[in-house]
Amino acid sequence: MIELRNVAYSYGGAELFSDLTLELAQGSFHFLTGPSGAGKTTLLKLCYGDLTATSGKASLFGVDRSGMSRDELALARRRIGVVHQDCQFLDHLPIAENVALPLTAAGRQDEIDSNLSDLLGWVGLADQAGQLPPQLSGGERQRAALARAVITSPDVIIADEPTGNIDWEMSQRLLTLLVELNRMGKAVLIATHDLNLIRAAKAQVQARVLRLRNRRLQSAGADL
Ligand SMILES: Nc1ncnc2c1ncn2[C@@H]1O[C@H](COP(=O)(O)OP(=O)(O)O)[C@@H](O)[C@H]1O
Ligand SMILES: [Mg+2]
Repeated sequence: MIELRNVAYSYGGAELFSDLTLELAQGSFHFLTGPSGAGKTTLLKLCYGDLTATSGKASLFGVDRSGMSRDELALARRRIGVVHQDCQFLDHLPIAENVALPLTAAGRQDEIDSNLSDLLGWVGLADQAGQLPPQLSGGERQRAALARAVITSPDVIIADEPTGNIDWEMSQRLLTLLVELNRMGKAVLIATHDLNLIRAAKAQVQARVLRLRNRRLQSAGADL
């Protein structure tokens, strides 16, 4: 569904990485790990089309990102749910409205009624639906961000350090939600430096672990 082939990226200076190849197939589960500053967030942005490769080819659902019009990119983006590292919300809108925003923006209001309450229940936020984002804890915000990312029923879910500032129990819960989505056939890519999370996941799902280091993407195998 998403494919990077011999991709390099530079913000203007030296290349962050080069000759990087990655395929996110339907139903696949990938972790991306590596030291801070290695380029994990940048790599995710290439996967969801927020950045274009400085060389090589990135394809989203079979279409070359570099040739996409704004409309084509917008359509592709609707098939990708992104959980950003700093889950930002519109603080003056209740959580339920924040979570429903991608459907509202896509003109799919008719789907809100049938999806929203189930989804809030699934992430354990049914009781917080009417609260404003600043009233939620870190873990609740992370789960709301996940709900918002998946409300459009995307084919691919990309999460950037989704368990960054939450406790272990909450991380496990979030992981379980991502594993459930993967079992429904969605491709999942999670950037994390939480090796315990990766170990916990490996008991539940067949996940590939990739490590970005020294400008290269490597398979991290048995040494975890
Ligand atoms: N918009 C930007 N402009 C210039 N440099 C950036 C930008 N975003 C990130 N960088 C740099 O690129 C490198 C990789 O960043 P990032 O992809 O966020 O790594 P990671 O997520 O692995 O910590 C870092 O050195 C960072 O400072
Ligand atoms: Mg990052």
